[in-house]
Amino acid sequence: MIALSLAEVAAAVDGRLVAADPAATVTGPVEFDSRKVGPGSLFVAFPGEKVDGHDYASAAMSAGAVAVLGTREVPGVPMVLVTDALTAMGRLARAVVDRLPGLTVIGLTGSSGKTTTKDLIGQLTARLGPTVAPPGSFNNELGHPHTALRAGPDTRYLVLEKGSRGVGHVRYLCEIVPPRISVVLNVGTSHIGEFGSQETIAVAKGELVEALPPDGLAVLNADDPRVDAMASRTRARVVRYGEAPDADVRAEDVTLDDRGRGSYTLVTPEGSAPVRLGLTGRHQVSNTLAAAAVARELGMPLAELATALGELGLVSTRRMDVFDRPDGVTVIDDSYNANPASMSAALKALASLGQGRRTVAVLGYMAELGPFERDGHAEVGQLAAELGVDRLLVVGEPAASIHEGATAVGNWGGESVLLTDQAAAVEVLRGELRPGDVVLVKGSRYRTWEVADALRADATSGNGATA
Ligand SMILES: Nc1ncnc2c1ncn2[C@@H]1O[C@H](COP(=O)(O)OP(=O)(O)OP(=O)(O)O)[C@@H](O)[C@H]1O
Ligand SMILES: [Mg+2]
Repeated sequence: MIALSLAEVAAAVDGRLVAADPAATVTGPVEFDSRKVGPGSLFVAFPGEKVDGHDYASAAMSAGAVAVLGTREVPGVPMVLVTDALTAMGRLARAVVDRLPGLTVIGLTGSSGKTTTKDLIGQLTARLGPTVAPPGSFNNELGHPHTALRAGPDTRYLVLEKGSRGVGHVRYLCEIVPPRISVVLNVGTSHIGEFGSQETIAVAKGELVEALPPDGLAVLNADDPRVDAMASRTRARVVRYGEAPDADVRAEDVTLDDRGRGSYTLVTPEGSAPVRLGLTGRHQVSNTLAAAAVARELGMPLAELATALGELGLVSTRRMDVFDRPDGVTVIDDSYNANPASMSAALKALASLGQGRRTVAVLGYMAELGPFERDGHAEVGQLAAELGVDRLLVVGEPAASIHEGATAVGNWGGESVLLTDQAAAVEVLRGELRPGDVVLVKGSRYRTWEVADALRADATSGNGATA
């Protein structure tokens, strides 16, 4: 971050200094985990239900913190006292980005692929200048300011994922860090239980382009009608990307290789160039086009852009992470999270990788689908069967509708089983996997991580497949 005196910090967050030297300087980072605090840090103490950050105030000071931002005094500790630490962190982030005129803020939202595409954009902008786009999914009212506070005087590009679970959330995140470029990827059904309908999700995601200034840029997915329609909700210029023939930045002649990696002709107003991706999944065509539209806006020449797209790699874990085990089994670890759209994307990737090989899908529960829960799961099972997945392991009773959806497909030649938990899935896999198999592991977070981890560990522990 940039250096701020405690007096400036207090002014930015509307706080009161207690036992603190107003001239003492915070140089960052701003941390809410005392173990991450170092010299120059500001420690933010949150009054948690189980753990109260104020109890760690002294430890943070010993680790080098300049002061503690919190909601109650801690004897002997220099404090910036506020009424709400989360709001204060947001205001501090705003104060920092406001003091960085050379910074371009790129915000992105969508139902699926935010972290993936944030990582893609970050890799492209890093070729153009110092970039802050840390791995992971820091997309809420805590992670967002925490990430923004990493920007310093040298930072040229700040790439921020903006998550939302309701109307007004993205708008709030944009008040903390106003974007100059806003990218909207898609409007799916994740968190639809909280939103109520896809129309409401579109309203909520569109807040990202409403927040743009007139000289900003909205990068919109022309292939998603709900996203395309957001053009009318912004004062900024609009660039449309996708495979639609009239998209400004588009992919033509898309093909996939036997690893599910896309190749296409990138067509832009400046001309066209061949692109060959190293990333697995048809959906990466769309994500890379979004990233290309941003890099093009920031001045990356077409030839360099085409090369750079081909060199993009994975940054955050458990997203379309394809690896080959020494025993000849290929694993697609996509276990970070799941919703119907990302399940569909992942199953299609499995199908394209699995041509001529036996395919196994280990699928877990998709959280937060509300009233769409039953149908959402059943449709995923149906798709798995229609794509011809050979073996389906459905993990956990809450995901049972996946099993039902698959077995309801009359002419499916594969086989599905509903298992009680992850350990049971690992056991079945250890018994059944043979060299050459391709396994997809996917579900909502911790519910399937263990399976992916076990498959990874088995590769080196002698538990691998035998012919
Ligand atoms: N454009 C896309 N369309 C559909 N599915 C996608 C797309 N991009 C990525 N995915 C799938 O979504 C999964 C989650 O990706 P990612 O973590 O990037 O999404 P996210 O939007 O950041 O999710 P979260 O809301 O949990 O932060 C990936 O593992 C992949 O299967
Ligand atoms: Mg994310």
